[in-house]
Amino acid sequence: MSVTIKSPREINLMREAGKILARTHNELARALRPGMSTWDIDRIGEEIIRSYGCIPSFKNYNGYPASICVSVNEEVVHGIPSKKRILKEGDIVSLDAGVIYKGYHSDAARTYGIGEISPEASQLIEVTRQSFFEGIKYAKIGNHLNDISSHIQAYAEKFGYGVVRDLVGHGIGEHLHEDPEVPNFAQRRKGVRLQEGMTLAVEPMINAGTYNVCWMDDDWTVVTQDGSLSAHYENTILICQDGPEILSLDEV
Ligand code: MF3
Ligand code: CO
Repeated sequence: MSVTIKSPREINLMREAGKILARTHNELARALRPGMSTWDIDRIGEEIIRSYGCIPSFKNYNGYPASICVSVNEEVVHGIPSKKRILKEGDIVSLDAGVIYKGYHSDAARTYGIGEISPEASQLIEVTRQSFFEGIKYAKIGNHLNDISSHIQAYAEKFGYGVVRDLVGHGIGEHLHEDPEVPNFAQRRKGVRLQEGMTLAVEPMINAGTYNVCWMDDDWTVVTQDGSLSAHYENTILICQDGPEILSLDEV
């Protein structure tokens, strides 16, 4: 498969998908509280997505059993919601969600603190979010993919954090995962040239410690090798004439 350029019709559908996903995240953020299970988050998230007439794209994707990936503390991504996993004050939780609207995908992730969290945890969350924005400053026509990747890494590493290597962002559109891969760390190659109408899911995964990760026995949950905290921030973006348009963000 090669990198696709979206038509105006496709772009409008992806804008709709993104708006719905942004609202889903905003509603989920308001629902978070200590004492709830990660299963509760999945139930609420799926209900919100379906209430907007969308399909949760992660459900049954390669056998993934839920609609929302819920990853707590040292879990990096792809945590499987469970009735036994109860959020408590001081935890950080990454919520990753995807929707399909009229055949088009949007994909986004946020990390939140539960109640009061440590200054270290809160800096990790903020730097991870900011690394996305530092990267997409370079999401301009004529630049190369590596301009985004290398600036995400440079920003996160200034704080001594580990930028996960084993998972990357991706193109998105009619499929959840399309070409190109979008690493969060510098490549030797410049990567594809950015063109108007490309849609990308840019998703830094940043560890407080080393960048190494392991997979749990459930074959999904990715955790930091050193047990340090990890945060995730993702949006679906569109490359436009005058810079990136963030499709899956609606800040209130
Ligand atoms: N944002 C994640 C990704 O791009 C979501 C996939 S989770 C899965 O890979 F459950 F759907 F696999
Ligand atoms: Co993604």
